[in-house]
Amino acid sequence: MDLQAVAVKGTQDVLPANAHKWQYIEKTAADAAARFGFREIRTPVFEKTELFERSVGDTTDVVQKEMYTFNDKGGRSITLRPEGTAGAMRSVLEHGLFNDALPVKAFYTTSCYRYEKPQAGRLREFHQFGVECIGAPSPVADAEIILLGNAILTELGIKDISLQINSIGCPTCRAAYKNALKSYFEDRKDELCDTCKDRLERNPMRILDCKSPVCQAVCKDAPVILDYLCDECSAHFETVKTLLDTAGLSYTVNPGIVRGLDYYTKTVFEFISSQIGAQGTVCGGGRYDGLAKELGGPDLPSLGFAMGLERILMVMENQNCPFPDPEPVDLYIAPMGDAAQAQAVLLCNTLRQEGFKAITDLNNRGLKAQMKYAGKIGAKFSLVLGDNELNEKIARLKNMKTGEQREVVFPDGVITAIYDENIQNTFQNLNESLEKFNG
Ligand code: HAM
Repeated sequence: MDLQAVAVKGTQDVLPANAHKWQYIEKTAADAAARFGFREIRTPVFEKTELFERSVGDTTDVVQKEMYTFNDKGGRSITLRPEGTAGAMRSVLEHGLFNDALPVKAFYTTSCYRYEKPQAGRLREFHQFGVECIGAPSPVADAEIILLGNAILTELGIKDISLQINSIGCPTCRAAYKNALKSYFEDRKDELCDTCKDRLERNPMRILDCKSPVCQAVCKDAPVILDYLCDECSAHFETVKTLLDTAGLSYTVNPGIVRGLDYYTKTVFEFISSQIGAQGTVCGGGRYDGLAKELGGPDLPSLGFAMGLERILMVMENQNCPFPDPEPVDLYIAPMGDAAQAQAVLLCNTLRQEGFKAITDLNNRGLKAQMKYAGKIGAKFSLVLGDNELNEKIARLKNMKTGEQREVVFPDGVITAIYDENIQNTFQNLNESLEKFNG
């Protein structure tokens, strides 16, 4: 194929036949977030590069290796967002939303860009559903955010997900921890990869999420942050755990969850699936109490999470989770001849105004080809319009599933008949649901 007609490596199309799955996931997540009091925020796909350097952190893999950064025609350094938190926080600060009632609760569905090595569940353009709760210091917020993540996964019908939580403390407790970590790694410096040797100087915590198996082996016996938490961070974490216990949500405390972004403080968590290979984290998040100040705003302890939608879809397909069927086409009108064609367009428009999905021929096909097409697109009814039908104003409405035909006066009868059948179907569905419920 012509090279220009091939997508860029690490990107993926959502084709019309699959779009309903995406819409379902996005709507389920947005509806759940709305029930927790979140409203949507939309921010630009690109931001100033320094926003990500200062928030995500210039010692992270994301900033050092993975950002899509370029100079625009005005010579400004611009970056395609690698994640959604920085842009959301920038927007909240810029518009002074923190002057209104706190916390500011925002959710988003966005595309993100990271120059990573593509593999199953890891793309260069991927999509996140995320929530940010800005200006909420209490551990109750941590528990609520985790419960929201769990609610979305549960409502999507996803099973066998493990929730892993950790606390990575605040700058106070982290200072002592970093020293302990540094001296541990200094002793085994020769075993580390070159990147980690550099990390040892700049940010030894980043060594903990190095993907090299050799470094991971060295990390096994490294000091654990939980042993270094200050009293406040420790109490905060205990309360989060108690709240999750009370809510009946099971979790594992995993000191290995350190997250790959620099802004995190205190609670961090991941929802992990073991069924989609190495890239099993379907949702990751945590607190970022220092980010607002870091970006020049007031002190706004905050937290949130983001889910990778491609990974959610993979797990759902893997587990055969049910997706609602896409809305079917109600009526396909097959016109024969120019006069009928004009009437078909008119009738389709009338039906669409009534809320029906109505389709007619756009390709001047013969009747047989049209009926084949109607079958292919899964139309519920079809209607042939020829000269006879136009003259007599009577047409035959065919139920494509049962083959039953019904004479209808054209055009009002068509609308009434479809209404009738749809209402009957609705009643039938309702009766079936009631029977199931009672039975
Ligand atoms: P993150 O862990 O970098 O966190 O990404 C969140 C989720 O996005 C991951 O758990 C994964 O499901 C998905 N994801 C990440 N990279 C890729 C990729 N290359 N391909 C496919 N999916 C991917 C964040 O982005 C934070 N902003 C989350 C957050 C919000 N923390 C607080 N608020």
